[in-house]
Amino acid sequence: MVHNSCVILGTGSYAPARVVTNDELAKTIDTSPEWIFTRSGIRERHITAPNEATSDMAVEAAKAALHDAKLAAADIDLLILATLTPDLLLPAAACQVQHKLGIPTHAACFDLNAACSGFIYALDTASAMIQSGRYKHALVIGAEKLSAIVDWKDRTTCVLFGDGAGAVVLGRSTKAGVGVIGAKLGAYGDSTDLLYIPKGGSRHPATAASIAAGDHFMKMKGKEVFKLAVRAMDEAARDILEQHHLRADQITLVIPHQANLRIIEAVAQYLEIPMDRFYVNLDRYGNTSSASVPIALDEARKAGRIKHGDITLLVAFGAGLTYGSALIRW
Ligand code: ACO
Repeated sequence: MVHNSCVILGTGSYAPARVVTNDELAKTIDTSPEWIFTRSGIRERHITAPNEATSDMAVEAAKAALHDAKLAAADIDLLILATLTPDLLLPAAACQVQHKLGIPTHAACFDLNAACSGFIYALDTASAMIQSGRYKHALVIGAEKLSAIVDWKDRTTCVLFGDGAGAVVLGRSTKAGVGVIGAKLGAYGDSTDLLYIPKGGSRHPATAASIAAGDHFMKMKGKEVFKLAVRAMDEAARDILEQHHLRADQITLVIPHQANLRIIEAVAQYLEIPMDRFYVNLDRYGNTSSASVPIALDEARKAGRIKHGDITLLVAFGAGLTYGSALIRW
């Protein structure tokens, strides 16, 4: 039998119970609910309980995706967890997720860090591994506890991010031209300084002084990221449409990385795709990095925004600066 396609068999997502509104943030830092909403499109975000880590959220999203796919943990032979906030620096949080779910020990399990493009990077990787015929069912998860790496005293970043997880279950199909029909990944490695954590890695291991200075928190040059993000998402979307000889009007739904509504609107304008064909939920989640695309994908499916035969475009950018796009035919 020829297995030539990788299809999405199920989706799931999870958000921590605690919701932090712009009003609540405005009580602790020098900002206003209007500033946050008009500059970013965000109204509220979910924040984990103190004892909840990335792998806990990943497990919940994965359980929902497995249930949707009508598969059991025992069916999974590949697990990729896209995250920039693993529970520990070592080992991979994917192994913790494997253990908590009861995924067999013969399954390949690893983390992948491409920041906010992480889910699309992981989807393309898993899809190629499934198409190779060597893996049967993959769990691809994007999960982040960004609340652990943002400086809650820095108003230029803390208002933008949230916690959450999204997952998909992938499998094989003998039907050609369905499922993940293509992806385009790339990176602008000359722009690593636009969004980074200065200390705590191998170049500058954490010290008491680096922690006192807050150098274990995320630093961002917002305006520069904004400009490069629009360019990268526009190019990633255009390239993949061209590669697959598709016109923008053939895309029934775009699921963009949810970082800033103004970035999404600018991309929509460049691509000449109306905003009503973009799925937007960042008003309720903020930027959840690699969880943003799979959470939006799960919500869009469950809201009936994706039908049989539709073509969905996923597009994202993230620290690195990485970018990626993927096309899914349902
Ligand atoms: N509340 C009130 N005022 C604020 C706040 C705040 N929370 N944050 C910044 N300001 C002030 C600034 O200090 C500045 O004041 P000044 O003019 O006196 O200097 C003013 O507001 C304007 O700031 P800008 O940075 O020019 O505002 P801008 O319109 O560019 O919006 C934002 C800032 C929202 C950060 C925007 O640039 C953005 O979204 N950039 C992209 C960020 C992004 O997407 N990052 C995620 C990357 S994905 C990943 O991998 C994690």
